[in-house]
Amino acid sequence: MAVLKILTSEDSRLRQETREVTEITPDIRQLIRNMSSTLYAANGVGLAATQVGSDKRIALVDIGEGLIVLINPEIVACSGRVVCQEGCLSIPGYTAEVERFSWVRVSARDLKFRQFEMEGTGLLAQALQHEIDHLDGVLYVDKADPLTLKKSGTEQ
Ligand code: NI
Repeated sequence: MAVLKILTSEDSRLRQETREVTEITPDIRQLIRNMSSTLYAANGVGLAATQVGSDKRIALVDIGEGLIVLINPEIVACSGRVVCQEGCLSIPGYTAEVERFSWVRVSARDLKFRQFEMEGTGLLAQALQHEIDHLDGVLYVDKADPLTLKKSGTEQ
């Protein structure tokens, strides 16, 4: 396993179009293992493949309740609005307020490429939206209220 370099916001690869994973290959498994090491080394709550320079639609989330591997994730239902304090491993040392859905249902595939659905509220809902945004080349600062940008806080 390897800890990968996390790209920072000026890197154009964070804006690249991602491609759906079509099968679980040894390379995909290796990428996920390395992303996992990278996430935990950085103490994050989520990491998207774009943040380590990959164009695969893969995101990891762990809000402290175990690792969730999301392959080809998409939001299939959502409701409510809530203002969240948010940070990002690709924008170290800053947070800002972002409006998010307060509840989401996400469809994705797991490590065995089985389709599954999960629901989240609170920090989990926020992290799911944040990581799926990364896979669409979107950073939280694109959606944040610029007047609320400030130094330090939790990162994901
Ligand atoms: Ni992020």
